[in-house]
Formats: sequence, structure tokens, C-alpha cells
Amino acid sequence: MSQDLNPMIWPVTARRVNGEMSIGNIRVSDLADEFGTPSFVLDEADFQARAGSWAKALQEAFGPNAGTAYYAAKSFISTQIARWIDEAGLGLDVCTDGELAVAIAVNFPAKKIELHGNNKSESEIASAIDYRVGVIVIDSLQEIDRVARIAHEKSIIQGVLLRLNPGVDADTHEAISTGHEDVKFGFSIASGAAWDAVLSVKKHESLELKGLHAHIGSQIFTPAAFELSASRLISILAKYRDEFGVELAELDLGGGYAIAYLDSDRPSSAEEVLSVVAKRVKAECEKALLRLPRVSIEPGRVIVGPSMVTIYEVGTTKEVSLADGSDRWYVSVDGGMSDNIRPALYGAEYSIALANRSSSAPVRNSRVVGKHCETGDIIIREVQLPSDIVPGDLLVVPATGAYGRSMASNYNHMVRPPVICVLNGKARSIIRRETHRDLLALEIEEEPRNIGKGGSR
Ligand code: LLP
Repeated sequence: MSQDLNPMIWPVTARRVNGEMSIGNIRVSDLADEFGTPSFVLDEADFQARAGSWAKALQEAFGPNAGTAYYAAKSFISTQIARWIDEAGLGLDVCTDGELAVAIAVNFPAKKIELHGNNKSESEIASAIDYRVGVIVIDSLQEIDRVARIAHEKSIIQGVLLRLNPGVDADTHEAISTGHEDVKFGFSIASGAAWDAVLSVKKHESLELKGLHAHIGSQIFTPAAFELSASRLISILAKYRDEFGVELAELDLGGGYAIAYLDSDRPSSAEEVLSVVAKRVKAECEKALLRLPRVSIEPGRVIVGPSMVTIYEVGTTKEVSLADGSDRWYVSVDGGMSDNIRPALYGAEYSIALANRSSSAPVRNSRVVGKHCETGDIIIREVQLPSDIVPGDLLVVPATGAYGRSMASNYNHMVRPPVICVLNGKARSIIRRETHRDLLALEIEEEPRNIGKGGSR
């Protein structure tokens, strides 16, 4: 089990009072009684503080050259989140028209939205341009022409960034490392594709090239990879100045800042990582005799990740004897890979705590599993849990806010859990629990009909 409520891992208002865990000044057991389990619980105070601290750290690191801290909607978005992000002065990074629809639903300031994606559809591009988003981050040669054409048809000059691939191999899980050469994202700097893309954008009067972008991966602990990526982007800024005699004004360094999931994790604070990156950006710009560009970032996980926890109820337990003579205790909870796919997908590790009471029982070698019909439906592979855990106990997994609910599925026709927001002793759902009716609502009965022009009839 995690060192009890390590503040690096747990939301800021998580406490234990008389053995019972509370968040936002509400007992976890009361939340479970009221909203059921599994449930995501979002600590509003924690979320607001994190959003504010990243916006502030960017300001402090870059001063008047601070661009926008765009919250990465993919980590978790809802209309309430979008409103808070706006109130905290951040922008929004959306990567589909679904995420854009949430922004539009709350009238999110268009100029503070950027649209991402390596294969944006024509209609996604059109919707973004219609809403007048500040920037579209272009990711392929075909997309340069596509965005230019659609903007031209709408008589708009669209601000764009080019997503470059700086060839930086960030030290993280392969599936979430995006800045090395062999990935689908961005124009490679090393191969010359980045410069070709610059030249191609320049041909279009309906595009305004505002600057360059890179996102090198996710859950990155040290600033070194961000520094290297920034310095490679700056080399292209210098080349651009040499070629065209003017300087590009914007540099977007993407997201990917790590959070703590385990007691042993030591992520840097916003101030630490951004001040190191700022120092490098300033030094590289000075060396290249460039003015400092406006520097933006796209944090997702660091803002919402630690703000949310998942409450589960234990349903069954069983003991197995392992080949080496030791025992493993399986503790099954009422959610699993449908609300947290990260352990199965990336081998991600989490902490866990007994929430409805404290226990001084001896611990045992345990594995926390979900209720899906798969052996790989594991929430925590290896953990020491008190040996007196029984069905009905509540287990809480911290740091599930990022890529938890947002990657949740209906596998096994499980309904997706609600997101309950807690603040100062009050709780409310901001996303309700799905129902079987929701699941069945997509099913329709249609008469077979002829479609298209021909075929065998
Ligand atoms: N900007 C871009 C262009 C991105 O692709 C991403 C994440 C971010 C910003 C935000 O990264 P963050 O600060 O949240 O690390 N599902 C994976 C993570 C995939 C990240 C995809 N892109 C996971 O659960 O670890």
C-alpha cells in the first residue's frame, strides 16, 4: 500500500479522520453510499490549484514571452472542466471534433483553442475554422493543402503551427513516446521533412505560419528531453530567419510532464521543469541571435491526473499458491480495465488504499483485479494489502484523473462510472453514471434497404 496518503500522489484534500478516508471533507464511504461504485472523485480544489500553478509557472519562467498553457483535453474533458480551464486562464488543446464540441458548448474563447491530430477530417478542420480557433497544428503534407483549401473557401487566413518531430527519444513507455523518428506524428527535422513543410505552408496565402510545435511523449520525468526538443525546434527558427529575414513568433513545446503514481516516483514541479526549459530556450535563442519567441505548453496529466481518485468496492477474494511456494491473494473489485485500461495497455502502476477504515492487520502479497472476463484485467499487479480486507470494503486508487475516465470503455457492457466533484463538504456529479438504457440506446431496428449505385441485387 502507498505510504498513507502521500501528498505527491493523493489529492490535496485527501485526509484520514478516525481511520476513514475523506476527500473534499466528505467521507469516501458517504460518497460510495450516495453515488455507488466504481466512481471517479474529482477534488475541485486540487484541480483548480494545479491548473493555476502551471499557468503561473509558465508566466514566471518566460515572463512577457509566456505563451499559452493549453490544457490537453484528451487527458479528461467535460463542460465543467472546460469552464474551469478558461477561468484559470489556460487555453485548450483539442484533437477531435468531439473535444471541440465540448469547448463550443461552453463558448470557450476560440483564440485560446488549438486543434491537433495526425489525421484530422475535412469536417474537423472546417468546424475548427468556423469556430475561428487560434491555431491548427498541422501534422502532414496533405493536411497543409487541406487546411489551406478549406480556409481559402471560407475566406479566412488560418493561423497554423507545424508539428515537428525533433528526433528525441524520451524515456517513457513506447506507446506514449512520440518524438523519436519511427512514429506517425509530425515532420521529421532530421530527414528534412520539417523544412519541406515550412516551404509548403509558405506557398498558401490562406495560412499564416505562426510557429513550430513538438510533443515528445507523456509521463516524462526529467527536463532534459524537453530541452533537447526545444533546442532542435530553435534550429529551425534560426533557419527560417536566415531564409526569410523574419522570425517566427511562437514555439509550442507540447505536454508530457510526469506525475507520481507510486511512492518512489519523483516528478519535478511546474516551476522546476519550466525554469530549466526556459533557461535552455533563452540560451539557444541568444546563441542563434533570435528574439525569444512566445513559448506555449500543453499539460494534461499533471493538471487532472492527481486531482481524481477511483473508489471501488471489494466483491470477492481468493488465495492462490504460486509455483515458488508463496501465496498470492486476489482481491476483486467492481470495476477494472473498462475504467482504467492503463495497467493492461502500458503496464502502468498505481497505488491503492483501504478507505472505509484503517487496518493494522498484517499485510499479504496481493493482486487487485477487476470484474472483466480477462486474466489481464489487473488494476495493481503486486501490492501488500491488509489481510483482513473483506467484501464490502472500499479501496481507493489515486491519480486516476488523466486517461482514466477519458479512455474508459463499455467492455463487457459495463456502464462507465460517474465523475463526482467534491468541494468543502459538498458533492455533485459532473458526469453521471451510464445506465443500461444508455447502452441500449444506440441499438436500432432498421429495414434492410438498397444503398449505393449498384452491386449484386
Ligand atoms: N499535446 C499533445 C500533442 C499530445 O498528444 C498530448 C498527449 C498532450 C499534449 C498531453 O500530454 P500529457 O501532458 O497529458 O502527458 N494515454 C496515455 C497518454 C497518451 C498521451 C497522448 N498525447 C496514458 O494513459 O499514459
